Amino acid sequence: MDHLKLLASLPVLLLLLLVSNSTPIAADLVSDKQALLAFAAGVPHGPKLNWSSSTPVCSWVGITCNSDKTRVIYLRLPGVGLLGSIPSNILGKLDALQVLSLRSNRLTVKLPPDVPSIPSLRSLYLQHNNLSGRIPTKLSSGLSFLDFSYNSFAGEIPLAVENLTKLTALYLQNNSLTGTIPDLKLLRLKHLNLSYNNLSGSIPDSLQTFRRDSFLGNPFLCGPPLAKCPGVSPSPSPLPPPTPEGHKKSFWKRLSLGVIIAMAAGALVILLLLAIGLLLCIVKRQRETEGDGASSKGKASVGGRSDKQPKEESSSGVQEAEKNKLVFFEGCAYNFDLEDLLRASAEVLGKGSYGTTYKAVLEDGTTVVVKRLREVAVGKKEFEQQMEIIGRIGQHPNVLPLRAYYYSKDEKLLVFEYVPAGNFSTLLHGSRGAGKTPLDWESRIRISLGAARGLAHIHAEGGGKFAHGNIKSNNVLLTQDLDACISDYGLASMMNSSATPSRVVVGYRAPETIETRKFTQKSDVYSFGVLLLELLTGKAPIQSPGRDDVVDLPRWVQSVVREEWTAEVFDVDLMRFQNIEEEMVQMLQIAMACVAKTPDQRPKMEEVSRMIEEIRLSDSENRTSEEKS
Ligand SMILES: *[C@@H]1O[C@H](CO)[C@@H](O)[C@H](O)[C@H]1NC(C)=O
Ligand SMILES: *[C@@H]1O[C@H](CO)[C@@H](O)[C@H](O)[C@H]1NC(C)=O
Ligand SMILES: *[C@@H]1O[C@H](CO)[C@@H](O)[C@H](O)[C@H]1NC(C)=O
Ligand SMILES: *[C@@H]1O[C@H](CO)[C@@H](O)[C@H](O)[C@H]1NC(C)=O
Ligand SMILES: *[C@@H]1O[C@H](CO)[C@@H](O)[C@H](O)[C@H]1NC(C)=O
Ligand SMILES: *[C@@H]1O[C@H](CO)[C@@H](O)[C@H](O)[C@H]1NC(C)=O
Repeated sequence: MDHLKLLASLPVLLLLLLVSNSTPIAADLVSDKQALLAFAAGVPHGPKLNWSSSTPVCSWVGITCNSDKTRVIYLRLPGVGLLGSIPSNILGKLDALQVLSLRSNRLTVKLPPDVPSIPSLRSLYLQHNNLSGRIPTKLSSGLSFLDFSYNSFAGEIPLAVENLTKLTALYLQNNSLTGTIPDLKLLRLKHLNLSYNNLSGSIPDSLQTFRRDSFLGNPFLCGPPLAKCPGVSPSPSPLPPPTPEGHKKSFWKRLSLGVIIAMAAGALVILLLLAIGLLLCIVKRQRETEGDGASSKGKASVGGRSDKQPKEESSSGVQEAEKNKLVFFEGCAYNFDLEDLLRASAEVLGKGSYGTTYKAVLEDGTTVVVKRLREVAVGKKEFEQQMEIIGRIGQHPNVLPLRAYYYSKDEKLLVFEYVPAGNFSTLLHGSRGAGKTPLDWESRIRISLGAARGLAHIHAEGGGKFAHGNIKSNNVLLTQDLDACISDYGLASMMNSSATPSRVVVGYRAPETIETRKFTQKSDVYSFGVLLLELLTGKAPIQSPGRDDVVDLPRWVQSVVREEWTAEVFDVDLMRFQNIEEEMVQMLQIAMACVAKTPDQRPKMEEVSRMIEEIRLSDSENRTSEEKS
């Protein structure tokens, strides 16, 4: 039966295909243009919109066409002063549109249903307007990014969201949504924010893996990760069996620690010294093999100084012994103490700007990274405060989490999570040459996006005043899945400033910091731009440390681009991949904006991350639609 029906409809389908193929392609661009002009005429806007019927639509501000300039695929009008309501049945005619951004305008009243249901639509950004009414119930099944946050949407979250299997991000915070949260079994959903609405009921099981701050400010919402729902019966056994044992164990541990402190405080110190000696031996032995270029000079002098330090420590160490404890952060699953750490087998990972970094494998197999700081210029109190900040900033998937620290007069240790796959610099530059697979474009975008998100988070924390001060490709660590993780943050302000000049990597340094040595968020953005150029060109911004033959990537790229040899800029290893030219050019534009000479002209990290996101979304979508067709 069904087969018959299908056969019968086949000619009709063919006919439809032929008809749609034979219509002149230009007509589509013409209808796109008409729709856009109608939109501009219907919505009051600022002067930025240079749309005129006499100029080609693909050259208008905010418009991106596909590569053969036959359709409008992106419409991005953030912050152009759009005012009033979005007219119905106009934007819906842009039926090749993949990305629509009308964020940060003053749009009001409701969102017409034809907009979120454009079948080709992948990303919809409407945040920071004052749209009200209900969220339309018909949503395009291809949507992967929805941002309706900071509006006045009311009513319930439409059930249609349950069917958006490609959705990776759903931002609905700061609206007036009510009702319960639908059970979103969306495997790709990575980002969710429903905070500051008036949602109620229990959080569905499928969303309990998200963090608390995805659900804040909904007083009637309950269940993990928020507080338990009322009426849910408490655990039936009032005295769970493990408790006494746990008490005993920790008591025993405290006792044993007390014994150690009372009877063998000196021994502990000696143990510490031995371990430091051991570490130093390993440093020396590994020095030839581990060529972490950043600063292999000066190692000997530092090592020599530390060799002497412990002798002085033994006197003060006795009084400090009681405080010789690792301080762990809340929610940290590790269970070891300083002794375990000192017994661990250690391997030098590198010698960075602030000290030496070791990989330590504990007896139980736990692997952590221990950073041994030198030249710490602040006292204990300030150090502890800074650790609290670093601990808080580390709560982001793209920032290396700090798990514990140790402070004594002579020794400052930071314990970080171990990230197995190395850093971006080694991955990018170490994968060139005969017989090796160069890093593909997809991975490069993924890494840059992760790094941008991490840095944007660091900038957003701490009241928006916090700068990293040392962004470079060595400080972007990578997981096996190529998730980027920013390391080495939050230390600059504690360090002896005499250590500053040697540590700053010249190629990444923003022009204004060379004199002042003051690092700001804008100088971080510059360094990040250099990192993007590094990723695009495959060239390292420094050739050899300590010498003057530094490649000033921004200047080199600017000169090449000015001569209109844009294609010459790109890494030859990228040339073997197809259909990425447009995206590389987009990335180049972002990078060039970041390395603008005057700090004020550089975008904020948050914007940078959003811009890269938009490349990546269109990128992955182009791929999947190619695969399908
Ligand atoms: C509109 O403005 C953009 C950016 O300012 C510019 O690149 C483009 O050439 C302009 N287009 C027209 C038709 O004036
Ligand atoms: C948003 O729109 C509502 C009416 O829908 C109005 O009461 C409110 O003042 C507006 N808010 C802003 C910030 O314009
Ligand atoms: C989701 O998709 C299924 C199957 O396509 C359909 O039956 C259902 O009505 C859809 N749900 C909503 C809320 O649109
Ligand atoms: C979002 O809502 C919360 C709680 O009402 C408020 O503190 C915050 O300022 C709001 N954010 C914006 C950007 O309006
Ligand atoms: C929020 O929802 C509750 C019921 O769930 C209702 O009683 C309350 O008035 C609502 N608050 C607002 C500000 O709409
Ligand atoms: C969600 O938005 C709120 C309010 O703007 C913010 O405080 C919170 O950190 C956000 N949560 C996530 C997971 O982004």
